[in-house]
Amino acid sequence: MDPIRIDTGKRNVLGEGKHGVVYRLEDRYAVKVHHPHVAPEVLARDYLVGLALQGRGYPVAKPFGTRPVKVLGSESVEERYATGLLTQILPGVNIKKEVLLACKDRRLHDELEQRVFELLIKAKDRGFGVRDEGTHNAMYDPLTGGVHLFDFASWGLIGELLDPETGTFLNNKVIRLK
Ligand SMILES: Nc1ncnc2c1ncn2[C@@H]1O[C@H](COP(=O)(O)OP(=O)(O)OP(=O)(O)O)[C@@H](O)[C@H]1O
Ligand SMILES: [Mg+2]
Repeated sequence: MDPIRIDTGKRNVLGEGKHGVVYRLEDRYAVKVHHPHVAPEVLARDYLVGLALQGRGYPVAKPFGTRPVKVLGSESVEERYATGLLTQILPGVNIKKEVLLACKDRRLHDELEQRVFELLIKAKDRGFGVRDEGTHNAMYDPLTGGVHLFDFASWGLIGELLDPETGTFLNNKVIRLK
């Protein structure tokens, strides 16, 4: 399979975190490419957990799968082959970075935080290994009022117990990686 070419120009960067950079591809996909030091299983875990959550009806960035990518060179990112996780581009704004820190709307942030926490608590109760809690991994769409979660790189892995077709669990055991 030919690698997808990722243009690292500023216009294409949707965001950046500890694990990697998220690029816009053809105005259609968000592609997360991890920093070279991150183990490949982490991206697979991000995908599988997203798939399981989607299969259970949670509002998440729809995961489409992992694909080989070629990250084109720029000043900050060296040219290299890597794996990218393709998901839906979420509409709206990052709740922490843009509602709390940029527009400083504390009341709206707290309201949205409550909705995020409710989703996380529900996920925990259903056996997901929820980690990395907070509003930095959630987006708010002011047009629809919708809240969506993304970034499951640090969550527990459901792994072999997950049916990848349907995103449902074959049993409720959660394997926690470090
Ligand atoms: N599907 C998406 N649609 C739009 N923007 C996104 C999407 N996924 C990620 N982003 C943006 O990119 C940023 C980094 O993404 P993400 O949190 O997945 O990376 P990370 O390296 O795993 O982060 P962390 O530091 O939390 O481990 C997010 O804060 C968000 O603003
Ligand atoms: Mg994140």
